[in-house]
Amino acid sequence: TKRPILIQGPMPIEAEKFAERLENVEIEESGSTYEFYIGTVDDYPVIVSKTGKGMENTAAATAIAIEKYNPAAIINQGTSGGHDPALNVFDIVIGERTVNIGSMKTGDRAEGEGIEATEWKPMDVMASEGSAGEDPNAEKARYYDADPELLAAAIHVKDSYTQGKVVEGTIGSADVWNNEVDRINWFHENFETSVEEMESASSAMISKAYDVPFLAIRILSNNKTNDGAYNPDTAAANQEYVYEVVKEYIAAL
Ligand code: 5AD
Repeated sequence: TKRPILIQGPMPIEAEKFAERLENVEIEESGSTYEFYIGTVDDYPVIVSKTGKGMENTAAATAIAIEKYNPAAIINQGTSGGHDPALNVFDIVIGERTVNIGSMKTGDRAEGEGIEATEWKPMDVMASEGSAGEDPNAEKARYYDADPELLAAAIHVKDSYTQGKVVEGTIGSADVWNNEVDRINWFHENFETSVEEMESASSAMISKAYDVPFLAIRILSNNKTNDGAYNPDTAAANQEYVYEVVKEYIAAL
């Protein structure tokens, strides 16, 4: 039997549109949060995973899916907020790489010396088995590269999407919703982020731990840098595009 392709979406509006496209669907649950729609696309096994929001839910849902269903590839998809002023609501970012933008080490400041977020440094918890707080080699961001075949499939079907641009970029993840434009610009400059959201780098980390090919695909539902107002309809539009990516990936197998 073939190993399935796993499509992850955090919120109901980010998973159910794709799940509706599956044939021969059965639903399985793990715990009270993690729902799996097990079906097929073009007779190929595909599982849609509603992960819940955030890094912890995503890590758990990813590990559960890998242990239970042994997927051949994982695509994490959903909405995001723009860090690049050239990107508009409804544009899509194919994640050439993902990075955890919540994993940070603060500066050294004694009591009364205040809180200075612009001097925080990235912290790589995978740099070594020693203390990330003490290890100078851990003072860097860890970027997870997309799988080349998944990336190629996504690039190949770019033109099928007509509601905005499709670009390659860097997706930053953390359990933080940034509304300070100076802070957003700081991430854009220092981490080269195109967008932020709360899941992709978590799924990328777990996928790498199990050596499963991974790609993140994120649509902008909002962009503070150019007054792009939040639009929840973007969630469905992204799933339509990801459906085309999955069909292309299957056809190329
Ligand atoms: N910042 C953080 N998360 C965002 N999301 C959409 N836009 C943003 C943003 N600007 C996504 C996250 C999470 C939910 C809150 O929406 O990935 O699932």
